[in-house]
Amino acid sequence: MAIERTLILIKPDGVQRGLIGPILTRFETRGLKVVGLKLMKMTEQLASQHYKDHVGKGFYAGLVKFMTSSPLVALCIEGPKAVEVARKMMGKTFCTDAEAGTIRGDFGVSRGMNLIHGSDSPDSARREIGLFFKPEELFEYGRAGDAWVVNDEDRA
Ligand code: RTP
Ligand code: MG
Repeated sequence: MAIERTLILIKPDGVQRGLIGPILTRFETRGLKVVGLKLMKMTEQLASQHYKDHVGKGFYAGLVKFMTSSPLVALCIEGPKAVEVARKMMGKTFCTDAEAGTIRGDFGVSRGMNLIHGSDSPDSARREIGLFFKPEELFEYGRAGDAWVVNDEDRA
C-alpha cells in the first residue's frame, strides 16, 4: 500500500500571518486528502515529545518558545508517498534556503520562523500523528473526485 499519512503543522507564524488557507490550499490542490485537522496550542511537554531528537541542542529553547507562543494548526494528510511529497512541497528547513515554488520559499524569509512542519519519514509520521490526534479524530472517507486523483496503480 503506497498510500501514506503524514503530520503537517502550520506553525504559529503561519497562523498569525493569515496563511492557514494558502498553505492548506497547496495540499488540497496537489490532491492530498485532509484526514485530520485542528487548531491548538503546543505545550512545552508536547514540544519535548514532538522534537525529542532536538532536546538539548542549542536552538531547542528558542524553537520551543516559538512553537508554544501562539496557536498552530495540526493536519494529518493522506496520499501516495505523502511524507516525501509534503517535504518537497515545504522546501529546505530555512526559508532563506528554500527554492521558489515551495511553501517556505514562497511565503517566508526567516530561518527559525519557517511556517510549516512535515514528518521526515513514515516512522516519524506514525509517531507524530499519534502525538497530535486521537484515533477518533482521524477520518477515512471518499471524496467525489478521488478516482481522478489516485487510481489502483497508485494504491498497489
Ligand atoms: P520541521 O521538523 O519543523 O519540519 O523542520 P525540518 O525537519 O526541516 O528541520 P529539523 O532539523 O527537524 O529542525 C526542526 C526545527 O528546528 C528549527 N531549527 N533551528 N537554528 C538552527 O540551527 C535550527 N535548526 C533547526 C527550525 O524551526 C526547524 O524547522
Ligand atoms: Mg524535522
